[in-house]
Amino acid sequence: MSINLAILVSGRGSNMEAILRGIREGRISNVVPKVVVSNRPNVRALDVARQYGVDAVVIDDDGRKGADWEYDKRILACLEEHDVMPDNGLVCLAGFMRIVSSEFVRRYRWRIMNIHPSLLPAFPGLHAQRQALEYGVKVTGCTVHFVDEGVDTGPIILQEAVEVREDDDVESLASRILEREHVIYVRAVQLFAEGRLRIEGRRVRILI
Ligand code: GAR
Repeated sequence: MSINLAILVSGRGSNMEAILRGIREGRISNVVPKVVVSNRPNVRALDVARQYGVDAVVIDDDGRKGADWEYDKRILACLEEHDVMPDNGLVCLAGFMRIVSSEFVRRYRWRIMNIHPSLLPAFPGLHAQRQALEYGVKVTGCTVHFVDEGVDTGPIILQEAVEVREDDDVESLASRILEREHVIYVRAVQLFAEGRLRIEGRRVRILI
């Protein structure tokens, strides 16, 4: 059975694009992109999604950001309309700058993934690349993880390290991390579609 995919975005959508391209080019198989949802209107991700022939929907949160089950119910209704269900679906957060409510997480348990621009559990939350630079770490990176009820705390699927260079600023570091985000997010979605991710406590085992 194929996986019906929803991607939740807030802005540029380059991770979303990497996933849609991965599907188009056959590096991800058995995944059907059903809908892209943005909490903000007029963002680049919406145009790109439509270029890929994917339904792109705005569910405007008017800038209100906290975890909110009432808001998430609107997302849920949209996922249901597009047949992205807890038994056949995958929901990828791709630069989705909202915290999802625990009710939503429970409904789609282990079927929501997120990409984060640091090696979690270091530097959760906003501005992870800036946090890394300010802390002075020599190595940072990116993480794809399943979403649980916490913020950036769920079981880790894949990570990749990125070296911090002497002359890095937030922009240069973020752009090198972003290249690796695109690679590991595509790989994580493919592993999910192949049924190769097994969650054991906090560990995600990748079946050979
Ligand atoms: C990415 O770097 C992603 O890891 C980050 O936002 C950017 C979105 O870029 N997400 C977070 O910081 C989540 N806490 P994109 O819209 O081009 O994919």
